[in-house]
Amino acid sequence: MSRKVFRIAVVPGDGIGLEVTPVAVNVLDRLGELSGGELGFEYAEFPWGSHHYLETGRVMDEGGLEALRSFDAILFGATGWPTVPDHISLYGFRLAVCKGFDLFASVRPVRLFQGIQSPLRRGTPESVDWIMIRENSEGEYSGIGGRNLAARGESREIAIESALFTAEGCERIMRYAFEIAAQRPRRHVTSVTKSNAQQYGMTLWDDCFQRVRSEFPQVTSDQVLVDACAARMVLHPESFDVVVASNLFGDILSDLGGAIGGSLGIVASGNIDPLRRNPSMFEPVHGSAPDIAGQGIANPIAMIWSAAMMLEHLERPAEARRIMQAIDSATSAGVLSRDLGGSASTTEIGDAIVAAL
Ligand code: NAI
Ligand code: MG
Repeated sequence: MSRKVFRIAVVPGDGIGLEVTPVAVNVLDRLGELSGGELGFEYAEFPWGSHHYLETGRVMDEGGLEALRSFDAILFGATGWPTVPDHISLYGFRLAVCKGFDLFASVRPVRLFQGIQSPLRRGTPESVDWIMIRENSEGEYSGIGGRNLAARGESREIAIESALFTAEGCERIMRYAFEIAAQRPRRHVTSVTKSNAQQYGMTLWDDCFQRVRSEFPQVTSDQVLVDACAARMVLHPESFDVVVASNLFGDILSDLGGAIGGSLGIVASGNIDPLRRNPSMFEPVHGSAPDIAGQGIANPIAMIWSAAMMLEHLERPAEARRIMQAIDSATSAGVLSRDLGGSASTTEIGDAIVAAL
């Protein structure tokens, strides 16, 4: 039997990132043990984040992208700490990697695990099951703009924040959404737009959607305005299968999806380069949660599910499924953290999932 060893760059970051990342690594290691030597993981850990910034003046070391480039994938916790402005910790690592490696697809599945109750009365594992495909390289988070005229005085300063939409950027994320939908039973894509109010960027988005949808006759599709989409997620969660949205809209709607799935503490994501030119990065959707950091009560499921998505990307779908089943068996046995109404600690949940593998 040949042995496959994946090289994983691990960036725990700050706050609960430091607590949930080792739990996901334990899960991967257990899969390696269970494979009878066929599967293995080699890790390199990087201490980047807000604390690193306070010590060195940089969130990520100079040459960080080059250091990451040779890995098969990146497993990332979260960055952010109250003593460092959020835009510094976010642009310093997560956005630097996503932009630097052109990880243009942020993939954020929403589902309801066994034994977890959705805050929606009508939320069931059947009705809450969709994938948010968020554009991850341009749009509203392009970082184009500036602040100026501060000399006029505090209340007279101006700021411009521009969104960048390119036809190429829109079409590639939409095509990826349709490719994913084509492999799912429902085969449906919903495009999130706001072309009634945003008459340049979002009309380009809509035009691209018309072109791309015609390439996939086997997939049905519809379009919805972002505000109506938020309401529809609450009122008709069963109407979604694959949802494609711009950077900002996808960001907001994926937290809504996470809440519908029970908690932000379970929502996983992959920042993916569908063209596989660079390592993709897998991370929970939640942040560093300074309000609960250091207490050992963070829910590690989002991080563990992110590791499962990483295995899926590394073409190990059987092991990815095994993790998902282990999460299901822990949640259905009532091993739940506080955000889900339980009292299990981060490590107790991790141990239950490792045991269920
Ligand atoms: P957050 O996601 O860290 O926390 C929001 C709420 O959800 C908090 O009440 C927190 O306790 C709870 N929560 C989050 N994850 C949880 C988990 N695994 N288990 C149990 N409860 C959980 O978002 P917030 O508070 O807006 O931001 C905190 C920091 O995280 C900020 O510095 C922000 O910039 C950063 N952040 C970083 C991200 C990243 O690195 N990708 C993403 C989002 C936020
Ligand atoms: Mg977010």
